[in-house]
Amino acid sequence: MAIIVQLVQGLQSLAAHLTNPANFTQILSTVAIGIALILILTQIGQRINIDKNAPPEVPYWIPYLGSAIAFSVNPLKFYDDNRKKYGDVFTYTMVGRKFTVCLGIEGNNFVFNAKLADVSAEESYKPLTTPVFGKGVVYDCPNHMLMEQKKFVKWGMSNDAFRAYVPEMEEETRQYFQRWNNKTGGRGDLFKAMGELIINTASRTLMGPEIRALMDESVAQLYHDLDDGFQPINMFFEWLPLPSYFRRDNAHVQMRNIFKQVIDERRANNVTDKTDMLQSLLNQTYKDGTPFTDVDACHLMIALLMAGQHTSSTTATWALLHLAQNPHLIKELLDEQKDVLGSLDAPLTFDAMKNMTLLDNVIRETLRLCPPIIMILRKVIRPIAYPGTDYIIPKGNYIAASPIATQVDEQFYKNAKAFDPHRWSAIVEEETGETVDYGFGKIAGGGARNPSLPFGAGRHRCIGESFAYVQLKTVISTFLRMYDLSLTEKGMPGPDFTKMFVQPVLPVEVNYAPRK
Ligand code: HEM
Repeated sequence: MAIIVQLVQGLQSLAAHLTNPANFTQILSTVAIGIALILILTQIGQRINIDKNAPPEVPYWIPYLGSAIAFSVNPLKFYDDNRKKYGDVFTYTMVGRKFTVCLGIEGNNFVFNAKLADVSAEESYKPLTTPVFGKGVVYDCPNHMLMEQKKFVKWGMSNDAFRAYVPEMEEETRQYFQRWNNKTGGRGDLFKAMGELIINTASRTLMGPEIRALMDESVAQLYHDLDDGFQPINMFFEWLPLPSYFRRDNAHVQMRNIFKQVIDERRANNVTDKTDMLQSLLNQTYKDGTPFTDVDACHLMIALLMAGQHTSSTTATWALLHLAQNPHLIKELLDEQKDVLGSLDAPLTFDAMKNMTLLDNVIRETLRLCPPIIMILRKVIRPIAYPGTDYIIPKGNYIAASPIATQVDEQFYKNAKAFDPHRWSAIVEEETGETVDYGFGKIAGGGARNPSLPFGAGRHRCIGESFAYVQLKTVISTFLRMYDLSLTEKGMPGPDFTKMFVQPVLPVEVNYAPRK
């Protein structure tokens, strides 16, 4: 009891001390001196704590936060400015972590093809992805298991599957855009539309009809809650007592239960004739005999849903924005459809769309200029030498590739900042001939030296590229058949780099008019 009385008295005298104006000035000056001391010590610390072999470091004033603010305002400018001072390889601090960025085609190759014994993707991404995807898949398992999971997924992305998907995607797109004003036209929220449409088309085709049927109601909300847990803050702080973290965890459990219920029903009814991804993930076994369980399948389905959503929806949005800015390309795309299919009324097919080269190049050019992923990370688990220099990147740093740097570099692309899909008809991509198989099928071995790498390279290369192309081509073609499109008086939006996947600054509205 005496202790409590003393504590209360102590707090009272502290409060009186703090509220006395004479003491307040003293406190302010103490805080100011404290901050000045921290800033000076941060500077001294950076100068005396120099590892002679480590790459040069970008200096900073605020401890722990480091260059986080300058980086998140505009990472491309941050890279550009520091590249001029330090060259292609340099280290910066962000939220208590050190990132060594490796720019240029050699930098891309270094990061994408780094050895498993030296770097780990799991260590970089796990805090972000495991609470959303669930345990046992992608970055929550040894790398060789991820490689096999990618093989299971690839079986669900065959050409036959794509042939079945295209009419379904076309129908989804038509149905979706019926809700826009197809009598007089108007202004539409393109970003919102693409977000909803990509999730509808992906769930109808990859996830299966049962999930698609739920999409307008409960699953859409669960998706939003999962998505809220997929933000930069989650990458740096694995767990915080924030409502978004609780909602994310709750949504994960509910989403898994929905997939599990669909699987249980399919098993109970002996359903085997489905062509969707969910079906192709059932009854899989790892090479060493370990079964890939139904819960693993549920988690991998959530991973695919999340991996393909923002990447494809922002790409679709940017592509249509660029087309709105370049009406001559819209006309050329419609002419291409007429040439390939005979008429704009003929249904789209997977095989016909393979011959739509300009459409292909519009997507390729969009991904060159506006890739949704601008930083690829690996955590260094063993000190690693950077070829051609004396640098040894210390254990604990993250190495970062940023392929967008080469994608907008004049050295590789003339008039690099301009949107010009036709440039791709003149580019012959270098084929080295050598291929590598990391366990999920052969990919080009020299691929990481290609200046345009929106889908990455090496063992972690994206497995959704073909699906994304089929989806984007169908959505864009169908949209253009229904509506003409132009920018509003606000013009072309800039990129918002504060998001996990770079997207246009919101709101993204466009003018649309029904096509006669
Ligand atoms: C990995 C880009 C669509 C599934 C990646 C990576 C990139 C990328 C750059 C490499 C990450 C790294 O090396 O750390 C894109 C873009 C897309 C797209 C630009 C669309 C325009 C999709 C789709 C799916 C998908 C539709 C699935 C349906 C995955 C998976 C990985 C991955 C599972 C992880 C592979 C690994 O770490 O081994 N994606 N992606 N992606 N992507 Fe995609």
